[in-house]
Amino acid sequence: MKKNFVIAIDGPAGAGKSSVARLVAKKLGFLYVDTGAMYRALAWKAYSKKIDLNDLKKLIPMALKTQINLKADDAAKLQVFVDQKNVSKNIRTETISQWAKAIAQIPQIRKILVDHQRKLGKNQRVVMEGRDIGTVVFPKAKFKFYLDAAPEERAKRRFKELKLKGEQVSLSSLSQALKQRDQSDSLRRASPLKIAKGAIVLDSTSLGLEEVVQKILDRIGSKDL
Ligand code: DC
Repeated sequence: MKKNFVIAIDGPAGAGKSSVARLVAKKLGFLYVDTGAMYRALAWKAYSKKIDLNDLKKLIPMALKTQINLKADDAAKLQVFVDQKNVSKNIRTETISQWAKAIAQIPQIRKILVDHQRKLGKNQRVVMEGRDIGTVVFPKAKFKFYLDAAPEERAKRRFKELKLKGEQVSLSSLSQALKQRDQSDSLRRASPLKIAKGAIVLDSTSLGLEEVVQKILDRIGSKDL
């Protein structure tokens, strides 16, 4: 059994990466790593400590000494800890999405998190999802997938998710925010979201979760595992 095996899944917000990556990892018995949760974790800490995102003199030392831990709970749901505090719910609000979008543009922050992500993927069998996994973090990943979906469908999915959590948002404002986040993620100078060389592109607009997962498992096959 190979020790080092990375499956990279990148794509825009709301394309279904997290659910898909979590299920693929579960089916293969791999570790699941949600790198967006790491950006959110630092964003949440800066937000709760009222650190201005332009104040790099405070922000970088804060990021360097923050411990981020991702753990799966009994139901295989991801629990996110910042310095031992469970922030899984706190990091999923629209406010923190906005802060995460901004913090993800800072090259020094990206470097800290990319180092952490590379350590997690070293000598492990992982499914890692994010925006730059196949392009920057693990350009030599064994398999790279780019998961996309139509913007309206992605906005609807996010809307449902937030509503279930009791957040008051309108579909139109969410669509607008998602559009801005897509633009910011794709146009930023530091590691923009783009299709990695060699990535398999999957469109999940009219596919269910199980169908996308099956497509990925079919591509991976079993002989290489
Ligand atoms: O996937 P998400 O919505 O939880 O990600 C939160 C933010 O972090 C989003 O604006 C994209 C950014 N991000 C990134 O720049 N690089 C990653 N590898 C993962 C997320």
